[in-house]
Amino acid sequence: MGNLIQSVIIFFTLLSSATGAEVVYGRVGETVTLESPAVYTYVYWKFGKEDGLQLAWRNHLGGGGVIKDVPWNDMLALSANSLTIKKIQPENFGTYFCIVLTRNSVLPTITTTNLIKLDVRMNPSSPLLPGESLTLACTTETPQGLKKPEIHWLDPRGERMKNSQGTVKMRVKSQDDGMWTCSVANKKQVQISVKVVDLSPAPLHPQYTSKSSPITVPCSISPHITWQQIKDKGIQEVHWQFFPKPSSGLSAGDPQRLFSLSLGDPLSWIPDAHRELRPAQDPKTGNLALTRKQGREEDRGDYVCTMKFKNGVTMNRTVHVEVLQIVSSRGTGLVSGQSLNLTCSIGRPLPSDLQLQWSPPKPSSLPSLQSDRHPAHLTIPGVSTDDGGNWRCALWQGKTRLTSAAITLKIEPKLSVWMLVIICSAAVIPILLIILGFILCRRRHRKMRHLRHQLCRCKNPKPKGFYRT
Ligand SMILES: *[C@@H]1O[C@H](CO)[C@@H](O)[C@H](O)[C@H]1NC(C)=O
Ligand SMILES: *[C@@H]1O[C@H](CO)[C@@H](O)[C@H](O)[C@H]1NC(C)=O
Repeated sequence: MGNLIQSVIIFFTLLSSATGAEVVYGRVGETVTLESPAVYTYVYWKFGKEDGLQLAWRNHLGGGGVIKDVPWNDMLALSANSLTIKKIQPENFGTYFCIVLTRNSVLPTITTTNLIKLDVRMNPSSPLLPGESLTLACTTETPQGLKKPEIHWLDPRGERMKNSQGTVKMRVKSQDDGMWTCSVANKKQVQISVKVVDLSPAPLHPQYTSKSSPITVPCSISPHITWQQIKDKGIQEVHWQFFPKPSSGLSAGDPQRLFSLSLGDPLSWIPDAHRELRPAQDPKTGNLALTRKQGREEDRGDYVCTMKFKNGVTMNRTVHVEVLQIVSSRGTGLVSGQSLNLTCSIGRPLPSDLQLQWSPPKPSSLPSLQSDRHPAHLTIPGVSTDDGGNWRCALWQGKTRLTSAAITLKIEPKLSVWMLVIICSAAVIPILLIILGFILCRRRHRKMRHLRHQLCRCKNPKPKGFYRT
């Protein structure tokens, strides 16, 4: 009785497994694995027909063998429950039969697997310039009698392309750069890399600098694009421009050309109004950044790096530069007791995600520095000589220090009454001494003249009385 039930169950299992044909998609050169049941006494793999070419066999004790004939030699690997086909060739596509014998069944269980050729192509080949047309095609060679699979493409952001039916035709944009995925019957996914020539994204935030920190204006060619590819795509011009902020002396919208790239070999930057900025060493590496050891007030503005191609395609990136500065209301030389306003700013209100932090020359008793959030304006009602020295103001974004500015104050002590007396006396004494010296000198002089007068009279005695001639 029990045996009968078991046979019935096996019979139905046999029916169901014999009707359901598996479909596996593979590309030439890929490795695919075909599954076989885990429980068996004997398993046979055949190709083309149920009684066709035997590729491999195996028994439940682990014994077995694979075909040694061309073109199958060295491409098959058999495990307990799968057959692996390595580096499939066009002639390996077709129907595979897995024939399983179990101890309790009279009839074998036959599983059919269709290995279907999948072709994924891209035309033309990468990299492309934005605006160029591109065709992505994903096709299968489905044998007659089998249903064509549903095929669709996903762009690099994972969005499904509409009505693609396996082929996508488009004009590429920068954002099309990345991995495109062809999905076949929601079963098999194949990725293909599309490269679009572009510049790396500009920093999201401005670059901050100050007179006491370096300035860096980044710009680079997308890392996966080589200079040779840029050249092959017909590069015409690479240059840097500067659009000063209205506040920095120059009028707004009055761009300066900083550098142009000479496209000869080797590549070199030709300076224009370069503002003593230095381009990165080797433009061939794709690094087009500009730097200087120290920022300047007039560095504030927008820097635009532009790449132009012969077909008219232009791409650019804008880097905003802000300069942090400490301004003292009375300059840097003060006398103790004077009031002082120090302002640390970037020349416009700070974005709310940035914080300032003052570092006075000594741990200051300034009440305004007690809170976590330091103010942009510091008012010191009366400076003391202790306030002299280096004041620093750092700009933070969360836990990142963006830049810091510094100012050195010289504070002379205030003159007190006694000091005045001392200074006056010190000044008066030499004057008195001079006057005294003068007086003495004059008196001596007069005495000398008097003496000489007397001597004179003795030497040339005048005759007394009259003489007649
Ligand atoms: C940068 O590119 C944009 C869009 O292509 C363009 O509108 C803008 O004028 C360019 N800027 C400069 C400075 O060339
Ligand atoms: C400092 O700023 C205050 C207002 O914030 C102003 O009244 C004062 O005149 C300023 N002092 C100097 C020396 O500029």
